[in-house]
Amino acid sequence: MTIAAKQQKLAALFEAARVIPVLTIERLEDAVPLARALVAGGVRTLEVTLRTEVAVDAAKAIIAEVPEAIVGIGTILNEGDLARAAALGAKFGISPGLTPELLQAAANHDLPFAPGIATASELMQALAHGFEVTKFFPAEQAGGIKALRALAGPFPNVRFCPTGGIGEANVAQWLAEPNVIAAGGSWLCPAAEVRAGNWARITAICEQTMRSLKAA
Ligand code: 3PG
Repeated sequence: MTIAAKQQKLAALFEAARVIPVLTIERLEDAVPLARALVAGGVRTLEVTLRTEVAVDAAKAIIAEVPEAIVGIGTILNEGDLARAAALGAKFGISPGLTPELLQAAANHDLPFAPGIATASELMQALAHGFEVTKFFPAEQAGGIKALRALAGPFPNVRFCPTGGIGEANVAQWLAEPNVIAAGGSWLCPAAEVRAGNWARITAICEQTMRSLKAA
């Protein structure tokens, strides 16, 4: 598959999702009920981050047991992570940043992939490797919507999934930006609620976000 085709696939996936919860799963037994709670709240596209020991098994369990979920892998830092994501059956990969090696590996890989960028120079590196769909990270901390608008000037074709500091209060504003195709974050699955196994609360948070996006 060409990079353009893979990026098109990723853009379609992000556009359909609108919001993408960033999951950091500490206990394997939380993975399936957490994914079910998110899906029940209308949130189907999930990013399972490679930040914990159980992350790979957690993603595998969700793929096997929650067929409605569209599972991507986040915190991809190198070629090994990319290969792991593809091997476990992830639908996409996301990185908080980029390196020339990672961009090269992702260009040669079938897995749709969004590199992370926070500056114009990083965006130029992503574009040089054919990546026009990127993660803007850390979105609020790196200048927020004003920074994103400034990047739209020299890079009108780039589409972003911002994450970092996004929540119920500002997600609609981010999604109203013409170059934003999805927004991600941990607000849909607060660590304390996951720890407490409060799945109904997580479903309610998702429903609330989906309702306010509809109203916006
Ligand atoms: C990410 O990796 O995208 C961020 O850790 C999510 O940031 P948040 O916790 O501020 O939503």
